Parts: sequence; C-alpha cells; structure tokens
Amino acid sequence: MINSANRSSQSGTATTDLDWEKIRNDFPILKLKVDGKPLVYLDNAASSQMPQPVIDRLVRYQTTEHANVNRAVHYLSEVATQEYHRARCKLQQFINAGEDREIIFTSGTTDAINLVMHGYGRKFIKAGDEIILTTMEHHSNIVPWQMLASEKGAKIRVVPINDQGELEFDEYEKLFNEHTKFVGLIHVSNALGTINPIKRMIDLAHRYSVPVLIDGAQAAPHLTIDVQALDCDFYVFSAHKLCGPTGVGMLYGKAALLEAMQPFKGGGDMIASVTFEKTIYNTLPHKFEAGTPPIAAAIGFGAAIDYLTEIGIERIAAYETTLLEYATMRLNEISGVKIIGTAAEKTAAISFTMDGIHPHDIGTILNQDGIAVRTGHHCAQPVMQRFNVPATSRASFAFYNKKSEIDVLVAGIKTVQKVFL
Ligand code: ALA
Repeated sequence: MINSANRSSQSGTATTDLDWEKIRNDFPILKLKVDGKPLVYLDNAASSQMPQPVIDRLVRYQTTEHANVNRAVHYLSEVATQEYHRARCKLQQFINAGEDREIIFTSGTTDAINLVMHGYGRKFIKAGDEIILTTMEHHSNIVPWQMLASEKGAKIRVVPINDQGELEFDEYEKLFNEHTKFVGLIHVSNALGTINPIKRMIDLAHRYSVPVLIDGAQAAPHLTIDVQALDCDFYVFSAHKLCGPTGVGMLYGKAALLEAMQPFKGGGDMIASVTFEKTIYNTLPHKFEAGTPPIAAAIGFGAAIDYLTEIGIERIAAYETTLLEYATMRLNEISGVKIIGTAAEKTAAISFTMDGIHPHDIGTILNQDGIAVRTGHHCAQPVMQRFNVPATSRASFAFYNKKSEIDVLVAGIKTVQKVFL
C-alpha cells in the first residue's frame, strides 16, 4: 500500500513525466458543457468516467466478439469465453492474487459483499458469534451483516473513529474475544477519504484466526493492491470507479475459503451435474457465477485495468495527492467551510460542510456552474452521526482532474456563500 510519504516522494517524477492534459483528452465526456459551462466532474468516488480505449474495447466486443460464454463450441462463443477469461487474469494480476480461480465476477462491490455474507456467513456464523465492523463502513458493508446477525442471533461490534476520521486501533483490538468470527473493513472511506491501516488490522484479526473482508471500492482506483502481501481473506471492488463499466465488480477470496463456502446463487454454469435428487456444484470460479455473467462489462473491466496499469497506479496516486493537497489548502482558506475527515492518510476525496447552508443547496448552486459534487450521507450514515452532521458535500478527484478545476470549485463555493449568506 502506498502511504502519503511514499506518494509525496513519488510525486516529483510522477507529476512531471506524464502529460496529464493528454491523458484527460482520452475522456470524451470531460468535453461536455453543462448549461454552457465546462463540466467540472468532481464526483469520482461515486463513479469515474470512461476513457476512449475502454469505450472502443466495448464496441469491439459487441461488434466482433459477442456470444455467451462457457457454453458452446462455435467460434464466437470461444472468442467470448477466452476474452472473459483474459479479463479475469488481468484482475488477478492487478491485485496479485495467487490464482485466477480466486477472482469471481459479481455485479459490483455490494453484490460481492452479499456473496460473502450468504456463502461464508450463513454457513459459518452461528448464534452468539460476533462480527466486527467499523463506524466508517459504507452501508453495503453494514446492512448484509446486520441481516445475517438478525437471522443467526449474532452480534455486530463497531470500531469507533476519532475526530480526524481515523479508526481507533486500540478500541479495535479490545473488541476481539473468543466469540469474534468475522471482520469487515473498509480500505478507504468514501465519506472521509481516510486510508485505513488494513495490513495491521488484518494481522491482528488473524492472530485470533478471524477472516477479514476488505471493501476496496474506494481504494482500488487510487492505491496499489497486493492481496497476497495484505493476506486478506476477501477483497472486493467495482469496475465503474476504475474507469470501467457499471454492472460488474470483483470478489477476491482465498481459494480454500471459496471452496469451503456455499454458493450464493443457483442456476446455469455453477453446476457440474443436476438431477432432481442431487446437484453437484462446479469448480471455482464458476460455482459463484450462476447464469450468464456480465460478459461485455467484465471485458471492459479488463480494458480499464490495462488502461490504468499503463499509466501506473503509483503515478496516479502521486498526482492525485497533489490535487488533494491543493484542494485542502484552498478550501481551508474559505471561512465558513469545514473539512470533515482530516486523517493523516487520505485519498483525494474531501467532504465539507458550510456554516448555515445545507449540502443539497450547495450541490444545486455548484451544478449551475457545471460543477458535479456529491451531496448527502454518502451511504455512510454512521459517519454523519459520528460527526453530528446530516450530510456533507464531497469533492472527489481522479487523475484526469486538474488544479484549475479546483479553482472553479473554490469560486463556486464563494458563489454559494453569496447566494445564501
Ligand atoms: N459509494 C459511492 C459513493 O461514495 C456511490 O458515492
């Protein structure tokens, strides 16, 4: 994992050895005007934009390669099957998984977490067991575990966060006991930008023989992920935050755990044989991919991985750090603006509130200047409760953003103040 010290030391070369403006030109949507104003897209934590090579790859698939996979011997089915498999191998490499069968295509991060809840949780979690989550989890890593806890009579224990928006490690350690059976951890908070010390947290959980699921939805676009070095048991993320299509995501699971789990969904392709007396499940990864998978989206996911890998995630992280530092400085200069989430380790997402102005009003006025930010609770209501705010506005950056867009955001925020104060 890259920490901010590494990112700063890399930023010198990383920000100068690439033509970021040229990279920006790969994204056709960024040329859009909104009510005559240039689009300033700062909602990348919700969904990033797609570069032309990924769009082209989807067009090539649909125009020359499309068929169903794993089912027929005809030419197109073989091509589609091969390309679908190649996409899986690209993901394996991207996160340094040991085997391609450890990568399961899902419809997204939420689906992947639900798969683990049903496949692992419903089989192995029992009454009286405890599941550790953190205050900064996205709802997608809270609600499935609550459903499981209520079904099984298990208990959810929650790691608190400090005023900077960092997890309190000592409190995390205190939550472990003989009843602890699972840990779900967000790698990077979507609401605060905090990068959590997941390696240390995984190591601690493993000392108690407790498996750990990492929600990497906000981390994979910004940090190098090495699941073998992390030794996490499960790691999940979505394509659409990584310049890929919507409707596809990925679950990494250690092969032994995936083998031990029960399937989440039943249907075609996840079986080896079916009679009315007995069904024998297919091998990994097919056991968890019932029905026709998101073939086009998975191949687009692979193309997005190629695109990002060519630029280099370390370079992306270093460049985005320069955006984060500049935006933090500029927002801190505006009186009445308060940044929520000031952790020492952050990715380029800034949540903020403005004295006397509701975030929805902020978002609406910014939109009039073509500026796209997300406003609301960011599917992380416990974070809002912790900071005693109903909602925040969030500007989240990608490597195709530029400092001049931060200047437009700052000017937009001043306009908001003029309108409401
Ligand atoms: N989880 C996404 C976000 O933070 C949608 O905006």
